[in-house]
Amino acid sequence: KNLVILISGRGSNMQAIVEAAQSEKWPVNIAAVISNRADAAGLEYAAAKGIPTAVVVSKNYPDRAEFDAALQAEIDRYAPNLVVLAGFMRILTAPFVEHYAGRMMNIHPSLLPSFPGLATHQQALSFGVKVHGATVHFVTADLDHGPIVAQAAVPVLAGDTEHSLSERVLQQEHIIYPRAVRWFLEGRLTIVEGRVEVAGEV
Ligand code: GRF
Repeated sequence: KNLVILISGRGSNMQAIVEAAQSEKWPVNIAAVISNRADAAGLEYAAAKGIPTAVVVSKNYPDRAEFDAALQAEIDRYAPNLVVLAGFMRILTAPFVEHYAGRMMNIHPSLLPSFPGLATHQQALSFGVKVHGATVHFVTADLDHGPIVAQAAVPVLAGDTEHSLSERVLQQEHIIYPRAVRWFLEGRLTIVEGRVEVAGEV
């Protein structure tokens, strides 16, 4: 099976997935890592691992639709079974999302449906929640509202800052995202009435 991973920056979730695929010997081809920014640090890691990389720069396209069409063409060169958004900081158009319906995942740094959008750790601190976390979900046109595949919770501790809280959440992201991708590749995920069923032991 072919996996394409989209990043915009650091790429630590991409790295966690690549490492899990290699150390757990998943029967998967990490076909490409694609970024919308040429300076995404994660591209260097991917290239060093021998994974094909590509950059599709949004400002080279007149609008969102044209950018998404170019991105889709680049992704589809690799015939992905699954597209993984790993810190990919672009809002995607409905036709693009529809094209990958049921085969595109994202990780969001909050316990959805709480705190969709940006600055989730700041939102959690401002709200005073005592439990925070991360969510892996299928991508739908409704931003950060797709069917939930996996979640992990962390405590919010007295004295937490955006930085300390984000670090605690990120550690969990690196556990649940590779696991969710593996479940998909094992054919264990089904979407039933907008909810994800996971077959077998979880
Ligand atoms: C992660 O916190 C992810 O949940 C969010 O953006 C961040 C990306 O980090 N969507 P990285 O690029 O995977 O290191």
